[in-house]
Amino acid sequence: RPRVLSGIQPTSDSFHLGNFLGALQQWVGLQDEFDAYYFIPDLHAITVPHVPKELRARTLRSAAQLLAIGIDPERSVLFVQSQVPEHAELSWVLNCITGFGEAGRMTQFKDKSAKQGSEHATVGLFTYPVLMAADILLYRAQRVPVGEDQRQHLELTRDLAQRFNKRFGKSFVVPEPHIVKGTSKIYDLQDPTAKMSKSAATPAGLINLLDDPKVSAKKIKSAVTDNEREIRYDPENKAGVSNLLTIQSALSGRSIDELVAGYEGKGYGDLKNDTAEVLAEFVTPLRAKVDEFLGDEAELLRILSNGADRAREVASRTLAQVYDKVGFLPRK
Ligand code: TYM
Repeated sequence: RPRVLSGIQPTSDSFHLGNFLGALQQWVGLQDEFDAYYFIPDLHAITVPHVPKELRARTLRSAAQLLAIGIDPERSVLFVQSQVPEHAELSWVLNCITGFGEAGRMTQFKDKSAKQGSEHATVGLFTYPVLMAADILLYRAQRVPVGEDQRQHLELTRDLAQRFNKRFGKSFVVPEPHIVKGTSKIYDLQDPTAKMSKSAATPAGLINLLDDPKVSAKKIKSAVTDNEREIRYDPENKAGVSNLLTIQSALSGRSIDELVAGYEGKGYGDLKNDTAEVLAEFVTPLRAKVDEFLGDEAELLRILSNGADRAREVASRTLAQVYDKVGFLPRK
């Protein structure tokens, strides 16, 4: 079976709706056809200032959320990045074939480092995309399901794979991004031209999956729309309305056309109420399942440690080949 790999950072207490619709929903579906490797990149999470106790708690919460949305640890390998040392090891080798200018052109680095100032932005943040390339290339993954904001990092990963293969002999599979139409960029409810993000200007634009659905309903009801009254899908001119249609469609499984047809003669209030309702139906059982998984920490740790063992089987083989190719002496 072809292989798929992806990761989600443990940088907040709850995943948000953009994470779920842009990436996690795809992760769940891809488990059927693919040999799936899904992981929590905690090494990536320390590229910005963090609180150790929070990181530990959020890593566990992330695992609980992934299990709750339907990642099946029997079929898929679910693990935490720091428990598989090969990620850091391969990343060093890849750092040494990455151009300084090439890394400097990564837009996510430019945005984040501009916000922090060059004295505060770390070298870890600079080399973050190279670590991400290592994550993917270690497993020789063919497909990487991510949202639109990761496209440039995937391009870099492909370039590094090809460069290494050319310079040292074929070692890596060149991965394809798996970025779905429609949901690969979910927008902020208060600023529907910006992507939904945990670092948004105001929390009112962000839907956290684990928030009380009443809180999320309020946010949806105050979502920014436009001065017209017609409900139609038109991301250029009606960004807010189109975003709500996208969200409702992806959560309900009904097509946007079908939703739009149903709203003939109705108003934005109806669109918002229905979207809030569909969201509540989705998150209510999810929240209960997350609590259940969090209630048995020993079991969570067991699942993750088992996942790390399975991941290392693949990762250590790739790393041994790479070390050999670049001319390191064999390890016992
Ligand atoms: P992260 O943790 O920021 O986000 C996890 C996933 O959610 C997607 N996403 C969105 N999709 C649609 N609309 C949005 N508003 C939105 N916001 C976030 C992201 O594109 C991502 O797919 N660098 C990665 C983590 C990572 C990784 C990897 C991913 C580390 N190593 C290897 C794939 C393969 C990140 O920070 O995602």
